[in-house]
Amino acid sequence: MTDLFSVRDKIIIVTGGLGQLGTQFSTSLATAGAKVAIYSRRPFSAAETAVKFPGLADQIMVYHASVQDRAALEAATEALVATWGVPHVLINNAGVDSKASASADQNGPFETYPRQAWDEVIDVNLTGVMQCSQVVGTRMAEARRGSIINVGSLYGMVSPNQALYAYREQRDGVPFIKAVSYAASKGGLLSLTRYMATYWAPKNVRVNTVTFGGIKIGSFDKEFVDAFVQRVPLGRQAEAHEFNGAVQFLASDASTYITGSNVVVDGGFTAW
Ligand SMILES: NC(=O)c1ccc[n+]([C@@H]2O[C@H](COP(=O)([O-])OP(=O)(O)OC[C@H]3O[C@@H](n4cnc5c(N)ncnc54)[C@H](O)[C@@H]3O)[C@@H](O)[C@H]2O)c1
Repeated sequence: MTDLFSVRDKIIIVTGGLGQLGTQFSTSLATAGAKVAIYSRRPFSAAETAVKFPGLADQIMVYHASVQDRAALEAATEALVATWGVPHVLINNAGVDSKASASADQNGPFETYPRQAWDEVIDVNLTGVMQCSQVVGTRMAEARRGSIINVGSLYGMVSPNQALYAYREQRDGVPFIKAVSYAASKGGLLSLTRYMATYWAPKNVRVNTVTFGGIKIGSFDKEFVDAFVQRVPLGRQAEAHEFNGAVQFLASDASTYITGSNVVVDGGFTAW
């Protein structure tokens, strides 16, 4: 019997695949039999890859390609096609956000949010997805098959609730406003997904967003986590592995009639 959700022998690109979630996706997809090409903004040797992904060195290759660098994306994809063939799946996972520790103006009022910070986030989260999809999607369209998975966020569907961050001003005496750029980039991603999905549908290239809620990581302030989980119907943050299923679903032939869609994995956050 064939496994409906199989990704065995599929060639899958994961941008930013050495980060927190990218490592999860690369590991779980390679473990399920896929060949994974990570596009990384920093060089990463084969020896480092073998250490980071034990037992999976034959199935995971890391290419040095920033999603902001069109020439590097072209070169990496050329090399990948020559080695393994035309990719079946592109996971646009690379992303950046203003850090909580960033300068006060980056975490300050919208009225004075710096243009440079806006440009940096939009350039990776939105322009980078467009650019990487152009390069890889062209190959997929020529092959008449492919699945592009854009990693979104619940802040692309609903605005950050500034009340979740109010404790910062009470604690530090400095106003803290969750920045606009990340939310705008992830909102734009939903529209970019629909555009590419309809554009490439005649070529049998599917394009979808997966929207993720917040993951449990140790570095979050307790005040934030307590306020956040009160707004999650399931009453908790996600474990990092809980996004793997939706990603494998969209990568597999179980989703061949799904395109232009948004698969929401948020514990119910956007249902309230
Ligand atoms: N962590 C969460 O709670 C959460 C929730 C919803 C959505 N997301 C999204 O999931 C994705 C992965 O986030 P994460 O939590 O693993 O963050 P992370 O910072 O651990 O990983 C992001 C990766 O992207 C890479 N990257 C950044 N700029 C790049 C570029 N120009 N070219 C190539 N790679 C680049 C980084 O080096 C890093 O490895 C992001 O798109 C993020 O917005 C995360």
